[in-house]
Amino acid sequence: MDIRCTAGGHRAVSRGGTMGQPTQGGNTLVDPQRLWDRHMALAAIGGLPNGGVDRQALTLAEAEARIRLIEWGGEIGLAPEVDCIGNLFLRYPGRDAAAAPVVIGSHIDTQPTGGRFDGVFGVLSGLEALHGLRASGWEPERSVDLVAWNNEEGCRFPPTTMGSSVFSGALPVAEALDTVDGQGVSVADALQAVADNVGSLPTRPLGFSVHAFLEAHIEQGPVLEARKCPLGVVTGVQGLRWYRIDVRGQSAHAGTTPESLRRDALVAAHRMLATLRVHFLGGSDHEDTRFTVGRFQVQPGVPNTIPGHVHFTIDFRHPDAERLGELGDAVASICREHAGPCEVTVEAEPASPPIQFAPSIVALLDRAARAEGVEPLQLMSGATHDAKWLSTVAPAGMLFIPCKDGISHNEAESAEPAHLEIGARVLQRALRELAA
Ligand code: GLV
Ligand code: MN
Ligand code: MN
Repeated sequence: MDIRCTAGGHRAVSRGGTMGQPTQGGNTLVDPQRLWDRHMALAAIGGLPNGGVDRQALTLAEAEARIRLIEWGGEIGLAPEVDCIGNLFLRYPGRDAAAAPVVIGSHIDTQPTGGRFDGVFGVLSGLEALHGLRASGWEPERSVDLVAWNNEEGCRFPPTTMGSSVFSGALPVAEALDTVDGQGVSVADALQAVADNVGSLPTRPLGFSVHAFLEAHIEQGPVLEARKCPLGVVTGVQGLRWYRIDVRGQSAHAGTTPESLRRDALVAAHRMLATLRVHFLGGSDHEDTRFTVGRFQVQPGVPNTIPGHVHFTIDFRHPDAERLGELGDAVASICREHAGPCEVTVEAEPASPPIQFAPSIVALLDRAARAEGVEPLQLMSGATHDAKWLSTVAPAGMLFIPCKDGISHNEAESAEPAHLEIGARVLQRALRELAA
């Protein structure tokens, strides 16, 4: 397959290989039909009526997806192991058992109204790369671990990228295990429930030494599609900060309580939000700033009672570390200034700073893409990824494929089979070089 980004647009030339037949270009071997079918099979686990997926971390659906992945890995002799925060590793052994492994993968948990490709593509393209290599009799020097990082999405248990941040030492494991979901279930208890379903797996120590990490992912944004480019090599990931804000006033009768006596938590939260939006988006860098209130809960949430409690979240991202610091640091004081007669508490997850991926891995992925007949586009990632934390402990990098209309975290998320295939082939080629 020869796919280029050219000034004149998108040129795709197939060098043999249609859906259903493994394609061989140089030394690669990828079966695009198997790759696609496995995406659809995983999408059925936690599948939603509108075509999306709800397979949040450490649910029974996610346990079922783990079982499926372990079965597929077993077909090519990959041995499963799990660490104490629930990261799942499937090992392709190398000749030198003592050498640090190359790790490839992403995550299989989804948003509550997620799509079929976010995360899954990184795991299944890694599996496909290994499947083809196994069939070709590949014997690498280093072992390769295919990984499904636990709880990348963070929507059930904050923060996002929990498994990889614990693995890389950025988040203490005890803190992660104690985190509870909206029903009061802890990560520790949810891990036990998953283990009860998946069956006992051999364990491995947390945070072993990694030779290099590669993650393939859909872009989740509009750039590659707009540029008609089938592959992106990611240069870095922007910074991210998460906040949980609780505003407490007093519930009271909507018909009898005069305005002057009200302690309306919704009115206070509304004032805070209006100022926060100006604070974050009023600067000359507003095109670079991402500010989202994704959860806003009003209690008791009935028409004839004044809201006594509002809970909301802020997801704030910026590519510049200094701006991430200065804009984010003002959240608590803005909330306090606008609390009026209410009380407010602001809790923050540890900041996730912007990172640049190792130039050696960016160059490797660029080379691998060109060897597969693709002129890649280099770009920063707006979404966060497990590779960000891995980049703090090993050379790491990512490749992106386009997704339809740039839409992700949405049931309509979609990607082209030909793009899945090229992503898997480039990943496979880069992996061969790293593990050889
Ligand atoms: C990942 O899902 C993110 O929130 O960027
Ligand atoms: Mn993802
Ligand atoms: Mn996601």
